[in-house]
Amino acid sequence: MKIPFGTIAVTPGSRRLINEALDTLKLSSGRLVREFESKFAALTGTKEAVAVSTGTDADILALAVLHDFGAKRGDEVIVPALSFVATGNAVLHAGFRPVFVDVERHTLNIDPKKIERAITKRTRAIMPVHLMGKPADMDAVNRIAKKHGLYVVEDAAEAHGAVYKGRNAGTLGDMAAYSTYIAHIITTIEGGIVTTDRGDFAEVLRSLRSHGRACKCRVCVVNAAGAFCDKRFRHGEGSDIRFVFERIGYSCKMNELEAAVGIGSMDNYRRIIARRRSNLLSMIKKFDRFSPWLYTIKEEKHEKIGPHAFAIIRSPKAPFTRNELGVYLERAGIETRHLFSSMPTQCPGFAFLGYKKGQFPEAEYVGDNGLHIGVHQDLGPRHVAYFIKTVAEFLRSKGLKSRY
Ligand SMILES: Cc1ncc(COP(=O)(O)O)c(C=O)c1O
Repeated sequence: MKIPFGTIAVTPGSRRLINEALDTLKLSSGRLVREFESKFAALTGTKEAVAVSTGTDADILALAVLHDFGAKRGDEVIVPALSFVATGNAVLHAGFRPVFVDVERHTLNIDPKKIERAITKRTRAIMPVHLMGKPADMDAVNRIAKKHGLYVVEDAAEAHGAVYKGRNAGTLGDMAAYSTYIAHIITTIEGGIVTTDRGDFAEVLRSLRSHGRACKCRVCVVNAAGAFCDKRFRHGEGSDIRFVFERIGYSCKMNELEAAVGIGSMDNYRRIIARRRSNLLSMIKKFDRFSPWLYTIKEEKHEKIGPHAFAIIRSPKAPFTRNELGVYLERAGIETRHLFSSMPTQCPGFAFLGYKKGQFPEAEYVGDNGLHIGVHQDLGPRHVAYFIKTVAEFLRSKGLKSRY
């Protein structure tokens, strides 16, 4: 049996939209991107959604917006030490300095007790990450942000379908950035999207994704319909709005073919979420039997974990390494990924920031001991049973008992 990490379906509806776009040669960001944005906003319950090329771009743009709202280049953004490296990269690419805070080992999310001591006069935002779809402690994050006058930008890349105290992850801060990369629940193959309730943020986001130009329309009539734009030459004497650059921008629009895949992926959203949640919850329940050698994150009463993937963490007592387990699973056809690393101390690219090994013990622990595997919609009870059996066999091969 094989348990691949991810899957993708290009639905008949998407294929039809792709063919229409190819036939009309309307391929750059236009009508379909707008449709994808409106559907995504409706699904998450936000007023605005702005689609971009990748989840990393979504993180970057959501932060870069803050330059229009009082932030200065070189100001600080607080992020958890443990995340996919894109979170830390995005802070730097947006013109800020990442200030890392350790995570909790049992939730994998930023430890709210450690946030306040990382706040300085230059802090502008907190960017919690809902890692593996488990919502961060947003009440605590928002309380601290309010007290210190900070923005909250959720990195919701892995949080499709996550719910915190009855509200969708991605609606809990000032903005949220999702990835719609192929391994994620709503997918555009490559892609990302920023959601917010603030129309002024959305306008700046639309400008930022298109070089910082003064155009901020939801749909560009020039790109979408090849039509005349009556705003173009009204921006000032002798100017063309398309060549007025109001801010330092990026070039990261989503294209129509990607949006067509995303629209199809959203049509099947409820079914996909239900299947993935069923796989995830069944794995969480069955995994208990591997205590005290291995553990995973738990779903608590106040939340629904977004079924992105399944986390596997080696307990300190276990007499084997993470990679021994990883190789065993891979040989058995179960694809694994490391559960990321402590960005400041385990990713060499961040060494210039001067953090030292040992400063983020919890993130580093997960960085050394964590794996994750897929829970996607092509998997079902047979695959879950095979995964559990394989872990039990691994433990047995190490002379360890489990309640299998
Ligand atoms: C937490 C987190 N943030 C950001 C990203 C970046 O997304 P992308 O790969 O679409 O750039 C990812 C990617 O999966 C992620 O897991």
